[in-house]
This record gives sequence, C-alpha cells and structure tokens, in this order.
Amino acid sequence: MKALETRELPLTDYQHVSAEELFARTTAAKRALGDNVLVLGHNYQRDEVIEHADLRGDSLMLSKLAAQHAERPNIIFCGVHFMAETADILSRSQQTVILPDLAAGCSMADMAAIEQVEQCWETLGRILPVEDTVMPAVYVNSAAVLKAFCGEHGGITCTSSNARAVIEWGWARREKILFFPDEHLGRNTANKMGIPRDQMIVWDPYMPNGGNTVEAIKRARLILWKGHCSVHQMFQPAHVDYFRKQYPDGKVIVHPECHENVVNKADLVGSTEFIIQTVSAAPSGTIWAVGTELNLVNRLKRTQADKRIFFLSSTVCQCATMFRIDAPHLCWAMENLAEGHVVNRIVVPDDEKAWAKIALDRMMAVS
Ligand code: 13P
Ligand code: SF4
Repeated sequence: MKALETRELPLTDYQHVSAEELFARTTAAKRALGDNVLVLGHNYQRDEVIEHADLRGDSLMLSKLAAQHAERPNIIFCGVHFMAETADILSRSQQTVILPDLAAGCSMADMAAIEQVEQCWETLGRILPVEDTVMPAVYVNSAAVLKAFCGEHGGITCTSSNARAVIEWGWARREKILFFPDEHLGRNTANKMGIPRDQMIVWDPYMPNGGNTVEAIKRARLILWKGHCSVHQMFQPAHVDYFRKQYPDGKVIVHPECHENVVNKADLVGSTEFIIQTVSAAPSGTIWAVGTELNLVNRLKRTQADKRIFFLSSTVCQCATMFRIDAPHLCWAMENLAEGHVVNRIVVPDDEKAWAKIALDRMMAVS
C-alpha cells in the first residue's frame, strides 16, 4: 500500500464511470492490494459486486470466514451493516472491516432497539426471575449492542442455519427463550420441533407486557419478538399454490424468514447457502420455485441453466439495503484502500465487542 500522502478519493467521482471501467479499476486496485485485502460477499449481492468476492456465503459462513482470515489486514464486506459488525467482532483487533456503503442496513435489524429489549427484560423481570428462567437468543440480523446484551445475560446468537440447535441449547439451560428480532425464524423453527402453539407468544414492543397477559407470559416457553424481514414477508401462500398448479412436479424452497403459512407449504426450508447447495445439487431438468432475495434467484437461474428455476413471486422486490452495495461504492472503497485510505470502517466499541463475542462464540460452539 502507498504511504498516506494522497487525499481521499471522493465518492462523487465514481458516479458516472462506466461498468467496464469500474470492473477494470476494481480488479486492478484489488490486485495491487494482493494479500492486504479479503473481499467477503453475501449470497444476496449483485453480480457486479459478487464477482470481486474472494469468498461468498450465508451469514454463518461469512462470520466463520471473517474469524479464520487473521492474515488479511483489511476485510471489505459486501453485505449489510450487521454482517460487517459481526466480522469486526470476530476478526483480530489489528484488522479493519470496511462496508462500501454505510446505508446498507437491514430493516429487520432496525425492528429491535436496545432500549426496547431492555424494557422487555425489565418487564419480564417483574413477572419472573428473568435471569434464571429466560434465555435471550438474538438472530445475527441485529445490531452489535443486542448481541452484547445476549452475551451479558448468558444468551446466544443464531443464524438461519443453526436456529434449531440454538433453541435446543437455550432450553437445556433455561425454561424460556426470548427470541428476537425475527418472529418468523423463531416460529418456523419451533414448528419444526413440534412445539405447541400455546407455548409461543409474540412480544410487541409497543404494547404493555408486549401485548400479553401475565398468565400467558408465565406459561410461554418461546417469546417471539414482533419483527420481520420486509422482503421475505411479501411471499404469500397463494404464490406457492399458483406455482404448484403450473408445475405439479416442481419443488418449492424458501428461506425461514418467510411467514409460516408459506414455509408450511414449501418442500424445503433453509438458509441462503442451503438454498444454493440444494438447487445446485438437484438433477438436471428439475423445476424449482425459490422464495428468497431476487439477486440470489437470478444468479441461480444463470448458473443452473439445466434446471427450470422461478422466483416464487414476481411482485417481491430485491433487498433494497443489500442492493446499496454497488460497483461504484466497491471501486471507491478498494481504490481508497490501495491509496492508503480506509473509508467506511466499521468499528464496534470494545465493551460491546467483548460481550457480543461471547454470544457469538456460544453460537459457534453449537453450530
Ligand atoms: P442467511 O443467513 O441465510 O444468509 O440470511 C441472511 C439474511 O439476511 C436473509 O434475509
Ligand atoms: Fe435484512 Fe431482509 Fe435484507 Fe435479509 S433480506 S438483509 S433480513 S431486509
């Protein structure tokens, strides 16, 4: 890397650069950086971004990869904010994590604020001996401060790949689980485990007692935070019915962030990596409807051209925040790094980091 004499390259200079030039310049800057950079890409990233990723995967895989590559001083994370925070927590202190666009958040992560979770904990504490009876379990699609909350209160994180193992881990230790912020992942996982409906309640952070009676809270084994993914909630049971009518031999595969009414009608359910692996390994000529983010589905269509692959609903949009990471932002971050400037560094404060790492390490141990 060059010395720090140059000025930071402004993002506005990248707005009108052609796709070909952006590709060539990003490739050249990455080559110049060599082993000084690792580019991680989530399965939802656009082609123009994912083609520069050294490694790609689902949330769990990317967390593990960030922890494994201590030799790379810089990680450019092509995904959303909570993923880059997780990479910062799991990487070494001398490594820097860069998110090419800081506006790449997650609408679901925004549905649980630390103040609301603390308020919920306090309310539960007035009803039960909360520290002994309730295990907090947070989906990785959440701010680092919520992971830290779980670490500090004996809890754990989970991803869409290990939610069942995490819930089993929690119930082996405490009577109840507070699962947040995705209601659907929690409910779908519990449904698969055969947990009766009267043992699950929904916690609405805007209602007194989360919208529950004291008796229902005492009876519940699973307290599901009222939060959801704005993309996956748009898939409807009617989309599955329509596909099945057109293609009776086809299979439906969806992400567990979808509503249970969709998940219960699907043939297979799993993380983004599970979806990719399953469809890729399927015999030639098979027919699939895929209920997850559009970029992933379009890429599957192209790479698995020997199969017939459909997006489960033509009216569902791509994830607007994942989409924020584009070729201009990636080129800007890469060229700045090659010039010795770190832009958009993601830094989780040390006290948060320590507790959040405990929650993530607990998850890694059960995954
Ligand atoms: P995965 O962990 O399956 O990659 O999912 C992340 C995500 O944000 C899904 O919406
Ligand atoms: Fe968040 Fe949904 Fe986008 Fe995943 S698809 S990053 S859960 S908004």
